[in-house]
Amino acid sequence: MNRSHSQLPAWQALQAHAIQLAPCHLRQLFADDPQRGQRFSAEACGWYLNYAKNRITATTLALLLQLANACQLRPRIQAMFAGEAVNVTEQRAALHTALRLPAGVALWRDGEDIAAQVHAVLAHMAAFTGQVVEGRWRGYSGLPIRHVLNIGIGGSDLGPEMVYQALRHYRHSRLDCRFVSNLDPCDFRAATDGLNPAETLVIVCSKTFKTQETLVNAQRARAWIVAGLGDERAVARHCVAVSANRAAAQGFGIDCVFGLWDWDGGRYSLDSAIGLSTMLAIGPAQFHAMLAGFHAMDQHFLHAPLADNLPVLMGLLAVWYSSFLAAPSVAILPYAHDLKRFPAYLQQLTMESNGKSVTLAGRPVDYPTGPVYWGEPGTNGQHAFYQLLHQGGQLIPCDLIGFCHGLTADTGQHQLLVAHLLAQGQALAFGNTLAEQRADGVPDWLLPHRRFAGNHPSNTLLAERLTPASLGSLVALYEHSVFTQACLWQINPFDQWGVELGKTLARQMQAELASASASVRLDSATLALIDYYRTHQASSPCDSRSAPTL
Ligand code: F6P
Repeated sequence: MNRSHSQLPAWQALQAHAIQLAPCHLRQLFADDPQRGQRFSAEACGWYLNYAKNRITATTLALLLQLANACQLRPRIQAMFAGEAVNVTEQRAALHTALRLPAGVALWRDGEDIAAQVHAVLAHMAAFTGQVVEGRWRGYSGLPIRHVLNIGIGGSDLGPEMVYQALRHYRHSRLDCRFVSNLDPCDFRAATDGLNPAETLVIVCSKTFKTQETLVNAQRARAWIVAGLGDERAVARHCVAVSANRAAAQGFGIDCVFGLWDWDGGRYSLDSAIGLSTMLAIGPAQFHAMLAGFHAMDQHFLHAPLADNLPVLMGLLAVWYSSFLAAPSVAILPYAHDLKRFPAYLQQLTMESNGKSVTLAGRPVDYPTGPVYWGEPGTNGQHAFYQLLHQGGQLIPCDLIGFCHGLTADTGQHQLLVAHLLAQGQALAFGNTLAEQRADGVPDWLLPHRRFAGNHPSNTLLAERLTPASLGSLVALYEHSVFTQACLWQINPFDQWGVELGKTLARQMQAELASASASVRLDSATLALIDYYRTHQASSPCDSRSAPTL
């Protein structure tokens, strides 16, 4: 497509429609259509999406679907599933959907059945899990493994940690997993606090096995193991790796490597061997139940009509708010404490994918693309930032996520939680009126302060229960929503060149800080900061200044 998306008739029609719809309040939209609550809802793979509390009409949806068709959404979905090189800047496929194909379903690429390769790794993970959990894989000194230390960053950390928290009610082993990601040594220190290296298994997760933070922490872990067990040979017993770079992992001294593939991006990998800590915690059967949940949503995305397709609908709404209503952020509000890390996980999935401003063809876009994602579990968020959601005057679409059943016997308390979820959706959409406030006895001088304008949009997602399967479907729902958005924006959601410059400069800066004199190449502000750092570091009592060089 040569002309900009913003020149497409459907795009321009949406711009005109956004202006027309602007004065319309959600209260009015609900009053105009008594069936609205039922009409704007869809259900698939155990998830019920109610999107009636969005600033849309049937016309909005029809125009967004027209835009999706003009952007070839359906053929592009098919191209991704078929393994075409949809990641154009790296000339790679994006085949995360192959990670959850059921056993026995083949997917041929360059003469190889990659689905069979995936299942071979899953079988390796399951066999290893059995060995560790049953105490057949022991530490170097013969003690059984009690702790797992996952070392990785970005997609090699956020997904596994999110799932470990989310599925804690499904843990089948007594293994305690901890996660180290940050270059700050305090992270490693805190994660290993109270751990005995003789009873700890370290999983070094890095697709490339080149990421500085992970390699520094892995070296630290290696030294910790060797110091604790008094023998270099302990490393092979206490460290395993998950990587596409087997040679580098083996060069590090790790014999047991679980494979990855170049066609799977880091932020789309929690269901690959990157999820080894998950499998160790919940066992192979529940891990496969999670994969089945992913697969069910994949099939829905691939086959359901666009107008009933959950990821498509959520993707279209995201584009509507970002590109046509200029909403700069989206709040993710899970009413499930076990989904505590879900917003953080989604930040990488959404922003590393769609934080782009050039098209697939390399031309600058002339419309807003990926918004900022953020959030916290309800009800905690209610006592922190909901004030701004309700009265801050910004347009921030919200995703409210909840479950019909809780995971404890406290059904009454769970119902209270659901009551809050529903109440917030209502308060955001409808707010209150002056008449209602006066009827409540609010004095005139206080009316503006107690005013809830409403008209704040939200999606509500409900499932029966948080299970491995419903979590798998939820993650796939957001993955495919991100793809839908990228397709409408004509950007590549599978590369991440924007993280590279900082990495390069940090390497140069490391050399700068190690040298006695500052380079004249640097800008005056950075020079001032280096000067401040050097002065204060020299006067501090800290004795160890050595940093590992990589
Ligand atoms: O720097 C960004 C990134 O490449 C992410 O996309 C990725 O998830 C993370 O680093 C970790 O990469 P790796 O698994 O290769 O260590």
